[in-house]
Amino acid sequence: MNYQVIIPAAGSGKRMGAGYNKLFLPLDNRPIIDHTLNIFLKDACCNRIILVIQPNDKILFEEIFKKDHYSKIRIVDGGSERQYSVYNGLKAADNKGIILVHDGARPFIQAETIKQLVRFASDYGAAIAAVPVKDTIKRVNAMEVAETIDRSSLWQIQTPQAFRYSVLKDAHDQAKSEDFLGTDEAALVERMGHPVKIVASDYDNIKLTTPEDLYFAKAILEKRKENSYN
Ligand code: C5P
Repeated sequence: MNYQVIIPAAGSGKRMGAGYNKLFLPLDNRPIIDHTLNIFLKDACCNRIILVIQPNDKILFEEIFKKDHYSKIRIVDGGSERQYSVYNGLKAADNKGIILVHDGARPFIQAETIKQLVRFASDYGAAIAAVPVKDTIKRVNAMEVAETIDRSSLWQIQTPQAFRYSVLKDAHDQAKSEDFLGTDEAALVERMGHPVKIVASDYDNIKLTTPEDLYFAKAILEKRKENSYN
């Protein structure tokens, strides 16, 4: 089943501390964003990539993907918050079918997870990738434990998040009109009372956020190389 994907890549990457957009940092001699883009460029079911960037980064991005990919990639200017960047992407998307949102900073998403998300979004309207929480989670007030939360029902939410176009557009329009800012797309959809299904993903699908994440990223790449040799 075909789909389009919005890739927000317009952040400043402050927590990575590189001094420039972290998506240009090298991973196995290629920028992080190149890894992420390639997953969708290679997927025949993905018929459009909407890459959301800061205008200042445009030349650097254009150097990364070759001219022959221009037909599949549409470039859009980002906003001051991730949600605004995704909204700009949404306005540039085809207004039908299944649409995914996937962070540029998650270069390890597996093709099988994407496939399942697309299927679930088509059947149920909204589906998101997630993994069960491993650590014990506590609510803390002023550096003192207020509550231990039952871990058995807690999931750590990732991207991709997949939707029927109309569901995501309505959710963003409503959030905009009510000045609501969420930390993911699903939060906007949940606010409309629309159910959101979970697709079990894997722990490799990390978001490269702080410098330590680059060590994990190298280890994941090594593991995948070893697996492909065996
Ligand atoms: O900062 P963080 O890693 O959580 O951002 C997630 C993704 O959203 C990144 O790929 C980043 O480039 C993107 N983003 C964006 N526009 C913003 C902020 C973040 O496209 N204003």
